[in-house]
Order: sequence, then C-alpha cells, then structure tokens
Amino acid sequence: MTNKVVILGSTNVDQFLTVERYAKPGETLHVEEAQKSYGGGKGANQAIATARMKADTTFISKVGNDGLAQFMFEDFKAAGMNIDYILESETEKTGQAFITVDAQGQNTIYVYGGANMAMTPDDVKSAKAAIVDADFIVAQLEVPVPAIIEAFKVARAAGVTTVLNPAPAKEIPQELLELIDVIVPNEFEAEILSGVPVTDEKSMAQNADYFLSLGAKVVIITLGEQGTYYAVENDSGLVPAQKVKAIDTTAAGDTFIGAFVSRFNMKERNLVEAIDFANKAASLTVQKSGAQASIPLAEEVQL
Ligand code: ATP
Ligand code: RIB
Repeated sequence: MTNKVVILGSTNVDQFLTVERYAKPGETLHVEEAQKSYGGGKGANQAIATARMKADTTFISKVGNDGLAQFMFEDFKAAGMNIDYILESETEKTGQAFITVDAQGQNTIYVYGGANMAMTPDDVKSAKAAIVDADFIVAQLEVPVPAIIEAFKVARAAGVTTVLNPAPAKEIPQELLELIDVIVPNEFEAEILSGVPVTDEKSMAQNADYFLSLGAKVVIITLGEQGTYYAVENDSGLVPAQKVKAIDTTAAGDTFIGAFVSRFNMKERNLVEAIDFANKAASLTVQKSGAQASIPLAEEVQL
C-alpha cells in the first residue's frame, strides 16, 4: 500500500557555485563555471523525493508572488505531488539559498528564508484536511516553529505519525520535542539538541536514549558516508551506506527522509528495510550536482 505523506517546509531557489576550495576571509578565487540555479529548500526537496519514490505526497509551503518558484512547480507536478497547499506571500520574496560545493563534494549553505519564514499556524490550519488524512507528516526547521507545532498537534490528534528532520541545526522548544514520533537528525543536529557529541556507537545510543525519553518511538541519526544509526525501544543498529564517490552531497539528507517515509510502516516493523532503501536512494543523490536535480526516481534505486 502507498504511504500518504504531507511535507511541511521550505521552498528555495538554490544558487550553486562549484569551487576547488573555499576562499579564506579576504581572499579572492577564480572559479571555472558560472553559477547555476536549481530548485531547492529542504521542504521542497523532501517532497520531491517522497513523490519520486511514489508515495502519495502533499506539500505545504509558502513562496513569494515574484514567480521565482514557478519553474519548480512543473517539477512538483511531474513528480505527481499535490501542490494545492503552496501559498503565496504578498509581502515576502521566495526563499533563496547560496550554496558552494568544493572538490570533495562538501557544501556550505547560506539561506534567506523570505516567504518560508512567513508561514503561520493559521496557514497550517488551512491544510488540516490533508494532514488528518495522512500516514505521516514531515517537517524541517526552515519554517517557523509555531507552524510546525500546530501541524504536529493536528497530526497527533488524528493519529498521524509526526517526523521531524531538525535541520538546519538549532535548538527547539520542549513543546515541539515532545510532539515528535520519528526524529531524523544528522550527527551535528543530534548533538545540538541532546548536548551529546556523536563520536561512536555508545554516544549514538546516548543520543537515542535522550530522544526516546522525550517520547520519540524511532530515532534515526544519519552519518553521511557511514550510513545510518537507528534506535527503537528494544533494538538499535547501524545500516551501512553504499560505497560511492560523492561529488555533491546537497539534498542527501532530504532524499534519505523522502525515501524513508515513502516505505516505512510503523506497524510492519520494516524499519531496517526502509532505512536501507533510503541509504540507496541518497547514495544516488550524492553522485549528481544540485538539490532536486539530483534526487532519483524509484525505478533508479537498486534493491
Ligand atoms: P546534506 O545536508 O548534505 O543533505 P545531511 O547532513 O542531512 O546531508 P548525511 O548524514 O550527510 O545527511 O547523509 C544522509 C544520508 O545520505 C546518509 O545516511 C547516507 O545514506 C547518504 N550519504 C551521504 N553521504 C554519502 C556518501 N558520501 N556516500 C554514500 N552515501 C552517502
Ligand atoms: O538540504 C539542502 C537544502 O538546504 C538546499 O536545497 C537549500 O535550499 C537549503 O535549504
């Protein structure tokens, strides 16, 4: 059966610059290629990934009335996503991200939130019909926390599983922490929330205990090229990543989450299978440039 997933989150126009190495403060460097624009934003990337993995996907987001996100709408529709709940701000511009990728495939990102940061709890209430009808609602931290809290409260009341990707890393209020069923941080985001640096499996277990004690049922820490750590009440383990050469890791985490929620079933105990599928999907993303441009179709993911 196909999972029904609502993604609440950001839409950004990503400006990419490929560099050999990062400039030091005050230094000027020559670059080989002109900057490129791509579809991005953690919310939009996760929605694209979820839809490309063939889940029934609805995206709640806010863009400016500047037309800058229009090119993405074609990709959203091509992926089969419901875009009825993408709202337009009359006052704020479409979000933007400025991304540099170095020769090792690592990135640095500066984000201008724009319309994403104008998302309100009332905006979320206007999408209540979609939320209560879903299996999962997924959010990240590129929209305001009060909007996420409202969405997770509506979801909880309807028995919908809440998934938080606490990215980009920042502290969040206890009220939100206690509304999370499945938490998917990377190592750095986990440390910001728990205070425990992720260095080895013991520290991963300490992080997991922290989130489980707050009420999470599933903890998944993504570990880049090492793969993924997971923990539930009576089980934990590592699911290794695919061995590939990364050229741009942008949206690896987003692909992982979209692929994971497209396959995971809380009742069927297919956690490791869903994580393995998500690792495989994300390993394809890191081998291509761009965010949405690098997210694979379900047919491309080797099982
Ligand atoms: P990003 O911010 O770059 O999108 P992230 O920090 O949110 O990523 P990571 O933990 O770096 O998330 O990566 C998410 C998943 O992507 C990993 O769990 C793994 O499955 C896959 N992945 C990331 N980097 C690599 C790599 N170099 N080789 C293979 N798989 C990778
Ligand atoms: O996770 C990758 C995304 O983070 C990029 O697409 C960029 O828009 C930033 O929000």
